[in-house]
Formats: sequence, structure tokens, C-alpha cells
Amino acid sequence: MARVFVTRALPFPALDRLKDAHEVEEWPGDLPPAPGELRARTRETEGLLTLITDRVDAELLDAAPRLRAVANMGVGTDNIDVDACAARGIPVGNTPDVLTDATADLAFALLLALARKIVAGAEKVRAGEWRTWEPAADLGAELAGTVLGIVGWGRIGQAVARRAVGFGMEIVHSSRSSGVPLEELLERADVVSLHTPLTPDTRHLIDAAALARMKSTALLVNTARGGVVDQDALRSALHAAEIGGAALDVTDPEPLPADHPLLDAPNLLVVPHVGSATVRTRAKMAEMAVENLLAALDGRPMPHQVA
Ligand code: DGY
Repeated sequence: MARVFVTRALPFPALDRLKDAHEVEEWPGDLPPAPGELRARTRETEGLLTLITDRVDAELLDAAPRLRAVANMGVGTDNIDVDACAARGIPVGNTPDVLTDATADLAFALLLALARKIVAGAEKVRAGEWRTWEPAADLGAELAGTVLGIVGWGRIGQAVARRAVGFGMEIVHSSRSSGVPLEELLERADVVSLHTPLTPDTRHLIDAAALARMKSTALLVNTARGGVVDQDALRSALHAAEIGGAALDVTDPEPLPADHPLLDAPNLLVVPHVGSATVRTRAKMAEMAVENLLAALDGRPMPHQVA
């Protein structure tokens, strides 16, 4: 039996399998453990099941000499210093595939909500401001015949593309190894949807210059990572109506404080990082993270190992 620390209560059946096999401690708080608390709990730990809210860095690893495996409940691993883990021979696992459809659905939900002003419309009804059917009020944009630019051509980007075909959109994409140059995509697209991991190369990929290339009616959807967008530049672009609107599932920081200046911007919709938040997907993510951890603690390769 190995000692395992799980950084949040995970009310999913998969946890029982982990508890049957190992001595499991679950973080009791509703919020993530602070870095010092995480370090303290990891000191004697051999297996760590983290969420994307937990930072696993060299300092934590140095304080955890017995650590043998890190399983992240998420496909993104930008919260983990994967190189530092690899240097110490600690495998890192993630949860790809199982959240592809849920995240692609959310990208589309955000796109439709933004294009058809759904949130503003719902607020208007609740506020008692719906006067009558008006010929030229609440007008949005329709998607058929427009160009969807997908930045990042991995599983989720391609799943968004499949949905867009059903909506009659033309698709262009841009990635490191295929598609059109980003500049061309930004100039052609009516909707730009981001699906790239956060790396040093993609941090602030969508900056002031990128936003300036977009059409003044274009919509930006981000279900990837907040850091891919320069939010100060986005705020300015929205205030100056340089683009038509933005819908963000991810921000920098997370959570975005209610008084964050970005939230003053017009035509902006922000939701609280819910791309993978379906009952089925979250249960599968927990299952995959547990499988990764069980395998590594058993001396086998993780089924989904990033390093
Ligand atoms: C991930 O798995 O990286 C997602 O962002 C979680 O929703």
C-alpha cells in the first residue's frame, strides 16, 4: 500500500478503487490547498492525484522525496512542471479524449450564446424589459456561410470543426504542423476559436496585434487556457469595438475576481472553466486519473502518460 494524496474530494466511483488499493488522504477543503499546505501534505506521499488548480513545481518535488507518480485530472498539464518531474523520474499522467466532446460542445454553446446575445436576452426578460417583438432589436449574427478559424488542430479543435460543418460554416485552421498561417486565419475568420495548449510559445498568442488583424465583427471563443489571450489587449479591443465580442471559459487568473477590469468590457461573456463539466466526463476523468496512478504505483507505465 502506498500513501496517496488527492487534492480535493472527488465524489466519483473511481476513488473507491484507489482507496481499496492504497492509503488515501483527501484534501477536505472546498478550495484547493495553498502551495504550502500542498507541500506539507505531499512530504510523505508516493502518489499524488492533482487537479488543474494545483501547482506541481520543483519546490514541491524537492519537498516530496518519496513521490513516485503524479496523475492530473485534466488533459492540460500546464499546472505541472513536467520537465522537473521527468528529471526526477516521476511519471505524469493526464486525461485526454474523455473531455473532447464536452469541451467542443461548450465552445459551440459559447459561440451561439455570443452570436445570438442569449445571456443579454435572458437578463432582459428577467428584468421585465421585454416590451414586444421588435423588428430591429436584439439582432445577432447567424453562423451558416461564415468562416470558423480554429487555432490548434488537436482532438478538441477537430471536434469543434465537426460541429461547425453541421452549422454550414467554412473551416480554416492553424497549428504548428498544418493549416494556414495564424495571420491569415485571423484576417479571414468570422469566429476564432482557441484550442491550443498553454506553452511558452502560445502565451499571449492572441495579443493586440492579433486582435487588430481580426474583422471588426469577429467573435473570439477561448476554451483552451486563459494565458493564450492577452486580456489587457482583449479588453481594449472590446472597448474600441475592434472585434465583435468574446466568450471565455478560461481566464488568467482563475477565478477572475468580480472587480477585474476585463469584466467592464462590452460584448463579453465569461463562464467559470466548465468545458469538461458534464456528469459523464468528470466521472471519466476521475477514472482515468485513478488508472494512471494505480498503474504507476504498481510499477507499470501509465495508460496516459505525458512524461
Ligand atoms: C483540462 O482538462 O485541461 C480542462 O481544462 C479541464 O476542464
